[in-house]
Amino acid sequence: MRGQSVMVIYGGISAEREISIISSKEIIKSLKRLEYNVIEIDADPNLMKEIIYHKPDIIFNALHGTWGEDGQVQEILEASKICYTHSGVNASRLAMNKFESGQIFQKNNFFHPKSLLCNFKDLIGSDPMNFPYVIKPNDNGSSVGVAIISSESDKNKYIKEMVASRTCSEENDKLLVQEFIHGPEIQVAVYGNDKSGSIEIVPKNKFYDYESKYFDNGQTQHIIPPRITNKQMEEVNILGLKAHKLLKCRGITRSDFILDKKTGNFYILETNTQPGMTPTSLVPEIAKYHGFDFDNLINWIVEDASINR
Ligand SMILES: Nc1ncnc2c1ncn2[C@@H]1O[C@H](COP(=O)(O)OP(=O)(O)O)[C@@H](O)[C@H]1O
Ligand SMILES: [Mg+2]
Repeated sequence: MRGQSVMVIYGGISAEREISIISSKEIIKSLKRLEYNVIEIDADPNLMKEIIYHKPDIIFNALHGTWGEDGQVQEILEASKICYTHSGVNASRLAMNKFESGQIFQKNNFFHPKSLLCNFKDLIGSDPMNFPYVIKPNDNGSSVGVAIISSESDKNKYIKEMVASRTCSEENDKLLVQEFIHGPEIQVAVYGNDKSGSIEIVPKNKFYDYESKYFDNGQTQHIIPPRITNKQMEEVNILGLKAHKLLKCRGITRSDFILDKKTGNFYILETNTQPGMTPTSLVPEIAKYHGFDFDNLINWIVEDASINR
C-alpha cells in the first residue's frame, strides 16, 4: 500500500552479490514510483539490528545466493516478525540445495537429470559419469561454477579454474554431477499459487552461463512464447506451478527446464526462490508479456508478502 515503509535488503555476502545489487536498483526505483517509503540496506549478518532500528512495514528480500536465498536470512526475517517477500525458511533451504530438491522432484514424478554428489578431490582421479556431464556447486546460483564436461581436458580445466578462483576448495567441497540433457531450455515464472508463464532461452554460449544471463549485450535470445506446441507450453507451465507448490514456495519463483530432444520430456533442473530482477531477468520479462509491467509485479510481490505470511 502506498506510503508503507519497505526495507529493501540487497548485496549480501554471496558470489551473486553484484547481481543482487543490480536487481535491487530496479526494485528500489519501482518502489519509489509506487510511492512506498524505501529504506535501502546492504545486508550483512547485522541485519537484525537494522530491522529493529528502522521497523519497516515490509521487508523486500532482493538478495541472491548463499545466506540470502538459502533460509539463513529468512530465519532472521521470521524472528523479526515483519512480513517479508518470497519464500520462507524451509522452502528457501530446500530449493537452494539442488541435490535434495532434485530427489524430491524425482520422487514426485518429475523428470530430473541423473545426479550424484561427489567430493571435489575425487573428480581429479576419475569420472563420476560418462561424458558429457554437468558439474555445478550444489548450492550456488547464477551459473557460478557450472560447466559442461565433454572430455578429460574440459574436466582438468574446470578443476584448475575452480581452485584458482577459490569457488571450490580441494579439501572439503562437494559438487553436484549431473547427466547432460540436450534440448531447448524453457524457464517458467510462477506468481503465487495459480499463475505461470514461460520463455525459451537460446544462449550465445554453450549453455545459459553467467555471461549469457547478465552481460552479453542481448546476444542470448529470449523467445516468448517459447517455440513449443501449445500443449507443451501448458504442460511446462503446470510443471512450474507444481514445483513451486511441492517445495512450498511463496511469492514468485522461476523453475528451469530442459526439453529433452530424445524423449520430448521436460526435465526440471531447479526452482529459484529469489529470481533475478535485473533488466535482463526472465520473471519480469514473462510478466510483461502477460500484461503485468515491472511496477505491477513489484506491487504484487509486496502486497502478497503482507497477505501470505
Ligand atoms: N543437467 C543439465 N543438462 C543441460 N544443461 C544444464 C544442466 N544443468 C545445468 N545446465 C545449464 O546450466 C545452467 C545453470 O544451471 P542451473 O542448474 O540452473 O544452476 P544455477 O543455479 O546456477 O542457475 C542452466 O540454465 C543450463 O543452461
Ligand atoms: Mg538456473
